[in-house]
Amino acid sequence: MNNAKLYRNKKGLQLSDSKYVIENFLEYIEWKSRKNVILDIGSGDGQTLCEILLPRISEKVERVFAIDISSEMVEFSRREYGDRNIVFEKMDIAATEIPVEFHGKFDHIFSFFCLHWVLNQRRAFENIYDMLRPDGYVLFTFLAKNPIFDIYEEMAKMEKWRSYMKDYEKYISPYHFSSEPTEELNDLLIKLGFHVKICEMTKRSYTFPNLKTLHECVKAVNPFLKNIPKCKHDEYFEDYSSTMRRLNAVKIERRTNNNEDAFECVYHLMIVIAFRADCVK
Ligand SMILES: C[S@@+](CC[C@H](N)C(=O)[O-])C[C@H]1O[C@@H](n2cnc3c(N)ncnc32)[C@H](O)[C@@H]1O
Repeated sequence: MNNAKLYRNKKGLQLSDSKYVIENFLEYIEWKSRKNVILDIGSGDGQTLCEILLPRISEKVERVFAIDISSEMVEFSRREYGDRNIVFEKMDIAATEIPVEFHGKFDHIFSFFCLHWVLNQRRAFENIYDMLRPDGYVLFTFLAKNPIFDIYEEMAKMEKWRSYMKDYEKYISPYHFSSEPTEELNDLLIKLGFHVKICEMTKRSYTFPNLKTLHECVKAVNPFLKNIPKCKHDEYFEDYSSTMRRLNAVKIERRTNNNEDAFECVYHLMIVIAFRADCVK
């Protein structure tokens, strides 16, 4: 996902869930008496970090770093929040090597709606572990299961979209088909040395007020459109809608007053709070 401007305007679902997680889970993190150095992974357009998280923790924080794999996202957030003394850097959290200056640097690492994009979960969490201080904490939330992934899978089988969606499996949450997603993630984190305080999957729902908005929000995170000629985008979304209806991927709320149906999407968020267990508490 590279269209930072579109994402900024069409992220109601992500924003409402990040707020929910910050409001309900931030209290489980322990803060050091010293000023803390924090990192946000997959910071995207920077809004969640700068407008939702930081205002709640600013007095505890000394330095803020944010990384994202997309240069467009990094440039967008530098432009939007350039005056805030935040270091926005381009970086892949699943890279084979992380910069040495990031080793053991962070007291707290956050990530909102990014880690389901990362196929190599082990490498990502190893990197995160290495970047934490020995008593450092993490708070993550990302999509565990979402009917959007079933739609991707179905559309990737369709003759006319197959060639554009060859790598669709890369974009399905690693936990979407898992029968025991929290156990799987919990085991991985423990193997890597984390002490896991919370690893849970929460059912959430979001209602798109009409089909146009739903399409725009899907467009903002769709990884395949960049491969599809613009002249075929309308057809892609017609097929997206019919596949969505066929799979019962959303609940349609019939609205008679303005003739626009609303679409409720039910999905599951993974929420994790863990710390480096070098000094077990
Ligand atoms: C849905 S956006 C979330 C942005 C922001 N955290 C929010 O909550 O609105 C996901 C972000 O993760 C980034 N991302 C995806 N894979 C990544 C990776 N391997 N390393 C770092 N960032 C990644 C994408 O470029 C995108 O900006």
